[in-house]
Amino acid sequence: MKRIKILLTIMTMVVFAMPLAAQTPSAGDNAARVNAIISKMTLEEKIDYIGGTGFAVRAMPGLKLPSLEMSDGPIGVRSNQRFPSTTYAAGIGLAATWDRDLAQRVGDGIGKDARARGVHFMLGPGMNIYRSPLNGRNFEYFGEDPFLAGQIASNYILGMQKNGVSSTAKHYLANNSEYLRHDSDSVVDERALREIYLPAFEASVKHGHAGALMDSYNFINGTHATQNGYFNIDVLRKDWGFDGVMMSDWVATYDGVAAANNGLDLEMPTGAYMNRETLLPAIKDGRVKEATIDEKVRHILTTAVRFGWLDREQRDESLSTYNQANHNVALESARESITLLKNDGGVLPLDKNKIKSVLVVGPDAYPARVVGGGSGGVNPFSAVSPLEGIAKLLGPSVIVHYEQGLPMLADAAGMTAFTTEANGGKPGVTMEVYKNTKLEGSPESTSVIHAINRKGFGWDELFGGDFSDFGALAGAMQRSESRRFTGYYNAPEATTYHLYVHGPMENCGYRVFVDGKLVADNWDILKASEYATALPLTAGPHKVVAEDYQTGLFGGRLRLAIVDESKLVSAAAKRLAGKVDAVIITAGFNENNEGEGADRSFTLPFGQDEMIRELAALNKKTIVTVTAGGGVATAGWLGSVPAYVHNWYGGEQGGTALAEALFGEVNPSGHLPISIETRVEDNPTFHNYYPTPGTPHVEYKEGIFVGYRGYEHNHVEPQFPFGFGLSYTSFKIEKIKVEADKTPKAVMMHGLPALYTVSFDVTNTGSRAGDDVAQVYVGQRNAPVARPEKELKGFARVALKAGETRRVSVALDARAFTYYDVAGKHWHADAGKYTVSVGDSSANIAQKAELTIPAIEVSNIQ
Ligand code: BGC
Repeated sequence: MKRIKILLTIMTMVVFAMPLAAQTPSAGDNAARVNAIISKMTLEEKIDYIGGTGFAVRAMPGLKLPSLEMSDGPIGVRSNQRFPSTTYAAGIGLAATWDRDLAQRVGDGIGKDARARGVHFMLGPGMNIYRSPLNGRNFEYFGEDPFLAGQIASNYILGMQKNGVSSTAKHYLANNSEYLRHDSDSVVDERALREIYLPAFEASVKHGHAGALMDSYNFINGTHATQNGYFNIDVLRKDWGFDGVMMSDWVATYDGVAAANNGLDLEMPTGAYMNRETLLPAIKDGRVKEATIDEKVRHILTTAVRFGWLDREQRDESLSTYNQANHNVALESARESITLLKNDGGVLPLDKNKIKSVLVVGPDAYPARVVGGGSGGVNPFSAVSPLEGIAKLLGPSVIVHYEQGLPMLADAAGMTAFTTEANGGKPGVTMEVYKNTKLEGSPESTSVIHAINRKGFGWDELFGGDFSDFGALAGAMQRSESRRFTGYYNAPEATTYHLYVHGPMENCGYRVFVDGKLVADNWDILKASEYATALPLTAGPHKVVAEDYQTGLFGGRLRLAIVDESKLVSAAAKRLAGKVDAVIITAGFNENNEGEGADRSFTLPFGQDEMIRELAALNKKTIVTVTAGGGVATAGWLGSVPAYVHNWYGGEQGGTALAEALFGEVNPSGHLPISIETRVEDNPTFHNYYPTPGTPHVEYKEGIFVGYRGYEHNHVEPQFPFGFGLSYTSFKIEKIKVEADKTPKAVMMHGLPALYTVSFDVTNTGSRAGDDVAQVYVGQRNAPVARPEKELKGFARVALKAGETRRVSVALDARAFTYYDVAGKHWHADAGKYTVSVGDSSANIAQKAELTIPAIEVSNIQ
């Protein structure tokens, strides 16, 4: 290992931000134009303007202000009328590509799709940090590392906004789980906020120049995001110089006056709190200044002027609505995201010329699982499932068998037979319905139903696809109901059964008792959308009582199945697995058990571990592919399969890309933007992921030690480390050199000049072309404050032909060395020795160099 030492003579470097290229031409003229409009508005009009109308900023025809349309984001344009749109690989997959240019192309594609549909604000990208695999919305976000998340987010935003469409960076801030999302209070220390949770937003503002941000539902350190002046004003506006729109998440405003005074510009979806009724008297008696309202209107109008919305139609009819170039970008994003995690004996790629028959099996084989559930869902024009992708690639000469392999949980719930009494009752379950959430008083109705298998309400059921019907929303929000289901399950034999429950979403809860014992408790905290537990039962009848309540939009779903897992896997799947040349298992989640409004389990859903184990025992060439927005428990099956491919949610072309990777037409190049733990208990947040009992406080006790920072600090080895990903070729990284940057220039993220350049050779030592992701980590030797062993501070995705070597340079700015000095309110690095390392995962460091630097101080305010 070559060691390089650079000694600079100056003892302290004070680093100033360099101004980024001006993004708003003739700012003075624009300000005058905006002020002229504001001066024509009555106070009432200004107040109306800062309350949305569904998915839009209202039109004011008298002032020639058009309606400013919005659409979710972030994985494609999810038009509110369910109009289809290109569906790209999900955010976590985009982060797995480590490809800034691709992030720009995806942003650009979505920007064009938005312009073709007349959308002004896209509600994305989402960039909340992956603290734990349990968060139901991890699939939308960019993983556990703030640097990687900031790079992907800001490039996506740059790509999108050059089309005259504003992105909306969300959800600001510390919204890292889906349970109790309106009520939980994220208690996070200042260092963790500055170093882990804020940087992706900071990059979105300083580098991406995002037009809008969205405040989250939760509290942060005791104050709701929408009325948290520290984050909305001090950090965002004063420290970072944000000049765009701060909008609320949908129904995330709780106090009109507090929100008005603490930095919220636009209440969405309506002005339920920031309205005339609340604000006119508050302005009259001085609790809110009229100038504060003017400022909000100014932020919206300045953004409208900046993006040209007052000067042209937003729908650009020179663009295709069905955009073939964008479908190609969607395919590219899926291709690059696929992450190969195990490939023993080079079982992959499969050789399509040698394979005569294949079994594609599992719940995610067909139909395509393009994206997780909730507002991040997109409706593609068409989508390719893994089954279709594989069959198309193999062509007619190969026999492609398909089996679901397992019943769906809903089918198993329907088949779980109950009787109303232990002996001599009727078939079925007694359902009592109460018109309150606590099962109080006498039930409003009592009936006997076939099984505990209630579908309930989701987005589609509620609005029939029309997301702008907020009358329906208001009605549904009033719902308040609880139910008790009582029945007897007659266990055919004494064995360990499994109880599975697919529960409701936010503002709901459920629990299950078997023979009087609580076996599933999701009453106060809805821990996972799908819940499983082992259930040892004696032969004979057992009393099962399931209770649930619903208070908001999404209640009603409750499916309960009791199964003997050894009898779950279909006989046909087992028979075929023993016969075919290769078995491709498509395991994972889908839009119903991973998504917004509920967390998910770490273990794979219903029966899948068992399915993998049984099929792998029947065929040595069993390949496991997993569709999931993050890590899953692999301990139950990884040792019994030779290959594991993590394919995230691949969007409309996910099946094509997966097939290409499995059969070697594309060399997998994704690298994990997360660490995957062996056991969920290993996760650094495990002991404090849920609120401190009896309080809403979610204490981020792990501080800055999130993800690999935490694994390294705790000396716990994950199953798969951050940054890891295999390829069908091999790479070598060597000849590291660190030197003072000779051409100071503004670098990514913070508008800071480069201080050092790290350069190294990357060689493709294998026999086929491929892309490596070289990752640059920096760590302080003998740091006087608690610091991670190393932190990602740069990376380069390098495409190399077989045998090719390329010299790669990565710039490091001051923030590569600094930590946040809470007392001094600035970024600080001690003078002394730092280790710069390069590898292709956080655990596979190929080269290290030692660097001695002078002390550095970087102001917070830029
Ligand atoms: C989600 C946001 C989304 C909004 C509008 C909310 O429930 O949290 O991410 O943009 O709805 O659909």
